[in-house]
Formats: sequence, structure tokens, C-alpha cells
Amino acid sequence: MRTPLIAANWKMHKTIDEAIELIDGLLDQLDDDSFDGREILLCPPATALLVAAEQLDGTGIALGGQNMAAAREGAFTGEISPLMLLDVGCDFVILGHSERRHVFGEEDALINKKVKLALECGLIPVFAVGEKLEQRKAGAAESTVIDQLATGLDGVSANEMADVVIAYEPVWAIGTGETASPQDAQAMHAAIRGWLAAQYGESVAEDVRILYGGSVKPNNVDELMAEPDIDGALVGGASLDAESFARIINFA
Ligand code: PGA
Repeated sequence: MRTPLIAANWKMHKTIDEAIELIDGLLDQLDDDSFDGREILLCPPATALLVAAEQLDGTGIALGGQNMAAAREGAFTGEISPLMLLDVGCDFVILGHSERRHVFGEEDALINKKVKLALECGLIPVFAVGEKLEQRKAGAAESTVIDQLATGLDGVSANEMADVVIAYEPVWAIGTGETASPQDAQAMHAAIRGWLAAQYGESVAEDVRILYGGSVKPNNVDELMAEPDIDGALVGGASLDAESFARIINFA
């Protein structure tokens, strides 16, 4: 049984005061049912992690980083190490996000190093993959995603894989208001699970959570979550508003 995971990626939004206000607002909106049969994860910017950890303590909501360095420590100006994320109270870290790949030029080999290091350090990677619009138009959506999986997860054992969360985020759907149809998303999720089964065996494939990301909103979350291989959502824009993120958490 896979427990659905609803994850917020705040990206580069929210000062400390704004973060406190958003989390307060979110906690106000949630009730016991919001935690029934689902997990909630918040990934605020690094500067708000400490206050968020204090606020979330005892709530059952998990904390994650949005990125990390591919090293435990060292001369890497501006970077944050996995040990620092653990130190501040993170259990998760988003890796390979489309913006890291396409705005900051992170390549599969670097992302693979990060995924392996996160697992070694005891952080759960939320490993993001997704095709660009031109790749989808050229009929190469699935092969692009499978390539990203094969290189990004190279050297990850079946045992470790059971902990990894995958996020399928078509690049053309991120922040655009355009969502993959539930059918198209389901088809890709099934292809990802098929690849996982071939690589790691059926039982691991059945356990791995595959989130959908890309313009998930209160008005489309229910139909996305109704698909059998969609195990949660990675939410950007709509996670910045307490009411709309609470509605997404409370998907039907
Ligand atoms: P979006 O972002 O929900 O704003 O499309 C999703 C993401 O980038 O994780």
C-alpha cells in the first residue's frame, strides 16, 4: 500500500515572517481528516527551514529541502549539504527539479551523485523527472523520462529504491497553468512503474510513490489523484496559499 504524499515546493518564495504566517494559516485549515491516509511535506526556502521545523514539530507534517550539494561538506560557496538539511530537521530533499536542470544546468550525472548521497545520509530524495514540450511533440516523452530515471538512479539498490519518491513533472506544465490530462499523467506514471518493475522487481515498483507535478490546483487534484498510479502531488504555485494547499491536501 502506498500512502499518498502531498508535497509543497515553495521555490524562492516567502521570507521568514511570511513562512510563519503561511504555516499558521495552513495548520488552521487542516483537521484530523487531512492527515487520514496521507502524508504532507513542506519544502520552504533554506532560510525558513529552521522556523518551519519549530512550527511543524509535533504536527505530523514533514520538512524537506529544495536542493542540496553533492558533497557532505567543503569549499562549495553558496551550497547546502545533506548533513545541514538533516541538522535543521529535514527528512526529504527535492532533487533534479526541472528548474535545477534547465535554469541551473544540472545534468543527470550530478543529480545521480546527489540522489546517492542523500540516501547514504538518510534523506529521502523526491527525484524529479519530466520531458520538455518539444520532446513530447516529437513522441519522445517516455524515452526522455526513462533516460532520466536510468541515469539519475544509476547505482541505487533495490533496497534503497523502496525509500525514493519519484515526481513526474512535465516541464511544459510547471507554472504554466497547463496540466497533463489525468490520462496522460497516468500513462507516464504506469510507464515509470513498469520501468521500476523491470529494474528492481515488482514489489519495489509497487511500493515506490510516484507524484505528479505541474500546475496541480484545487480544481484538478481530485481527478489526478483518482488515477491508480498517481500517488501524490508536488505543488508549486498553489502551495503558496494556505486555503488552496489545504484543499489539495484534502483531495477527495
Ligand atoms: P507548479 O510547480 O505547481 O507551480 O506548476 C510545480 C513544481 O515545480 O514542482
